[in-house]
Amino acid sequence: MAERIALIAGATRGIGLALVEALAREWAGEGMVYLTARRAADGEAEARRLTGLGLRVGWLEFDLADPGGAARLAGELRRRHGGVDIAVQNGAYAPKDGVSTAAEAETMIAANNHGTLRFLRAFAPLMRDDGRLIVVASGMGRLANLPAPLHERFNTFRHSPSDIDLAMDGYVAALRAGTAAAEGWPDWVNIPSKVGQVAVTRAFARQFAADRGVLINAACPGLTLTEATAGLMDTVFKGRSAQTPAQAAADLLWLATLPKGTAAPYGELVQHRVVLPFGDAP
Ligand SMILES: NC(=O)c1ccc[n+]([C@@H]2O[C@H](COP(=O)([O-])OP(=O)(O)OC[C@H]3O[C@@H](n4cnc5c(N)ncnc54)[C@H](OP(=O)(O)O)[C@@H]3O)[C@@H](O)[C@H]2O)c1
Repeated sequence: MAERIALIAGATRGIGLALVEALAREWAGEGMVYLTARRAADGEAEARRLTGLGLRVGWLEFDLADPGGAARLAGELRRRHGGVDIAVQNGAYAPKDGVSTAAEAETMIAANNHGTLRFLRAFAPLMRDDGRLIVVASGMGRLANLPAPLHERFNTFRHSPSDIDLAMDGYVAALRAGTAAAEGWPDWVNIPSKVGQVAVTRAFARQFAADRGVLINAACPGLTLTEATAGLMDTVFKGRSAQTPAQAAADLLWLATLPKGTAAPYGELVQHRVVLPFGDAP
């Protein structure tokens, strides 16, 4: 039997890095876990540190914003191993506190949304039987967080992944034109971006149709203290308690290692091992 292979994209720190360590410990040397980094120094440092703990961890370069990045990454894994058992898209450009939505939306949507769809397209054909393909998104990505007039654009029963990608471009165009508020888009870019990530994962899963036992889901790790949230704990998340990256990784590990023969969840948003309804309907 081929050696088990996992790829966790965007894992130089925070939840992704904790998941790499948790999975490598779970596999206890019987399988290879790759993390991705945008900068070689970060990838090398974390792979070396985890290898030093006796874990089987490697690293590969990947930038969600690079239009050819996901295909190159998947191609490299195909060349080395023929396929993968677990692929997790965890990477995210994090919105910065105090930066205007218009200023950062284009960068964020290009990486987190268009990059996520490129990742799904590149990795779905590479998944081995009973593989687990996961996009780490957020509970903020539920439709209820957008006003009702915008819901139809993200209805995954009626729209393809490409349609949803175009809806994200429509959001960026509205920001540029100064019409986003009038269209009802919330002021915080993280909400439309996460709705788009969950929707595109659901629409993609629907198209892929549970082939060969492969499960495709979006996940919300729950509020976790990381570099992305540290600056928001006194504002956006004021009064809420945050878990550690290791605690968040435990639930993601559960989703990534659901046993062979598991049929559900499929095409869902999962938080703490429970499906959070996205909010669309046929
Ligand atoms: N923390 C929370 O409370 C929370 C809650 C809900 C959802 N989430 C989601 O969980 C995921 C991980 O969050 P986190 O809090 O662990 O974030 P984080 O600490 O900011 O880590 C983000 C990771 O994404 C990578 N990344 C950034 N831009 C990238 C790009 N263009 N291409 C590839 N990788 C890139 C970063 O690597 P570099 O070193 O290259 O920058 C880093 O490894 C994100 O999708 C986030 O939205 C987090």
